[in-house]
Amino acid sequence: MHVEASSSTSVASLRTMALAMLIMISSLFFHSSYASSNDFLRCLSASKPKQLLFAQSSPRFPSVLASSVRNPRFLTPWTARPLCIVTPTNASHAQAAVVCGRRHGVRLRVRSGGHDYEGLSYRSVRPGAAFAVVDLARLRSVRVTRGPPATAWVDSGATLGELYHAVGRASGRLAFPAGLCPTVGVGGHLSGGGFGMLLRKHGLAADHVVNAVLVDAKGRLLDRNSMGRDVFWAIRGGGGGGSFGIVLSWKVKLVPVPPTVTVFTVAKSVQEGAVDILAKWQEVAPALPDDLFVRVLVQGRVASFQSLYLGTCDALLPVMRHRFPALGVNRKHCKEMTWIQSVAYVYLGSGATVEDILNRTSAVDAVFSKATSDYVRRGISRDTWAEIFTRWLAKPDAGLMILDPYGGKIADMPESATPFPHRGGVLYNIQYMNFWEGANEEAARAGWVRDLYTFMEPHVSKNPRQAYANYKDLWLGENVVGAGAIRSFEAGRVWGEKYYKGNFRRLAMAKREIDPDDYFSNEQSIPPLAVQLILTNMAQVDRSY
Ligand SMILES: Cc1cc2nc3c(=O)[nH]c(=O)nc-3n(C[C@H](O)[C@H](O)[C@H](O)COP(=O)(O)OP(=O)(O)OC[C@H]3O[C@@H](n4cnc5c(N)ncnc54)[C@H](O)[C@@H]3O)c2cc1C
Ligand SMILES: *[C@@H]1O[C@H](CO)[C@@H](O)[C@H](O)[C@H]1NC(C)=O
Ligand SMILES: *[C@@H]1O[C@H](CO)[C@@H](O)[C@H](O)[C@H]1NC(C)=O
Repeated sequence: MHVEASSSTSVASLRTMALAMLIMISSLFFHSSYASSNDFLRCLSASKPKQLLFAQSSPRFPSVLASSVRNPRFLTPWTARPLCIVTPTNASHAQAAVVCGRRHGVRLRVRSGGHDYEGLSYRSVRPGAAFAVVDLARLRSVRVTRGPPATAWVDSGATLGELYHAVGRASGRLAFPAGLCPTVGVGGHLSGGGFGMLLRKHGLAADHVVNAVLVDAKGRLLDRNSMGRDVFWAIRGGGGGGSFGIVLSWKVKLVPVPPTVTVFTVAKSVQEGAVDILAKWQEVAPALPDDLFVRVLVQGRVASFQSLYLGTCDALLPVMRHRFPALGVNRKHCKEMTWIQSVAYVYLGSGATVEDILNRTSAVDAVFSKATSDYVRRGISRDTWAEIFTRWLAKPDAGLMILDPYGGKIADMPESATPFPHRGGVLYNIQYMNFWEGANEEAARAGWVRDLYTFMEPHVSKNPRQAYANYKDLWLGENVVGAGAIRSFEAGRVWGEKYYKGNFRRLAMAKREIDPDDYFSNEQSIPPLAVQLILTNMAQVDRSY
């Protein structure tokens, strides 16, 4: 008893001492970080025109910060703000941001289109971390070469809509296979993979990258050859967290499309047999001819089958009748148009024009949202689909599920060809998403996503349970901040192998090659592998004391 009491007293006093020291250290830290912030700002203003730099005190700071925030969850008075925002108009400005940031201990967040699901391109989850935002919105030229080979150089700050528009204007027979939402930024999208209505015919956006311009952690400007094979492999799908540097522009291969494509949407309610048709869709959609893509939006009591066919209605109808008669597609469902028109039609609706895809703001982007994802490798049973409708989609706070079928070109490449490993054997991707209008709805609405994700575990991919890196979700895990802000490779495997499977290790090795000090780091960036090994050794030394 006595011994225990005295030892607990000494533990308590040790704790007090430790706490006092912690306060001292952290106040030192805040002082020094304050000083280094000022030095950082001074360094920046010396190296680039004033009008490209927005410090917190600038009257335009709030509007520049908000300009591409796509989720108001991360624009609250208590969200950590950057020290400043830099808006480069050429490569040397981005290089200067890195050089000044390194010199004065300020980290950078890189923002292209601002659609990051966790807002990591402009906010930090870590209290007290000084950071600046490099916003690439002013670097957005698109230069198309009709070829052959047909290619485009596109800057990261361009939107997918701007890229599609430029491609469509150059030729009615060319396209680029990437996401549906025209306001998504090229920089983040290509960094994390990128897929849309052309994925079965042509694969991922990142699969089409043939060159890139990267500013590394030393401030050097590198291309495909000078960055090296592993880093060029890594940035094409494994850089969703802004882990390897700032990619300023990309050279991409364009793909051919026929002059006429056909879109259709067929909605089936549960009463009209949605459960059976959905169960059937799981085997049919990933095995259709590559020219035919049929995704599903499942919401409330309805499954909407949304399709793009690379050809005419006359050619489509026999395929649908033969392969998927249960959906009952007929001539009245068909809408024939050009590919570029289909881009506007599919995302913005029948009233939209091709010019509307140039609009950098969209109404959908202003609502609160939370999402996460799964991959399905074995069809989910009919009974489970019935339960999903009655138990989950019928809830008053329910969101929606988006099912994108794979197979075709995306499945043709080996898992290690790019960091994106969700290829052969995947039937489809599920995105769980919920939207709401005011902060007070967050618990119920985001909670629905979390609870449904828990429910789905037995029905989806396992060991690891796979997820799509571009649907970033911090609930899957976060980097551990250790001494000197070094991230742990082992801890990172929890989320890293969901996104990248076995490729996570190779990404961590590429990271060591290009940024061994882990300058480009955030809550879900790739940790450098070698640093972890050193840490493990240190921990062993500690224990042996
Ligand atoms: C409404 C909406 C619709 C979507 N639709 C699709 C879809 O159809 N298909 C699909 O695949 N995905 C889709 N997504 C997901 C989208 O692909 C990702 O959110 C993507 O990362 C967004 O890129 P961004 O440049 O807009 O985002 P940002 O927030 O600017 O960046 C995302 C991440 O990439 C990093 N990053 C950004 N630019 C660079 C750069 N130049 N160099 C290095 N790192 C960088 C950022 O630091 C951040 O970590 C959608 C997202 C939203 C919000
Ligand atoms: C970038 O812009 C600066 C002006 O801020 C200019 O001095 C410099 O020459 C430009 N660099 C390039 C490569 O265009
Ligand atoms: C762009 O879209 C927003 C949101 O839908 C709309 O308010 C705005 O008027 C549009 N701008 C243009 C130029 O069409």
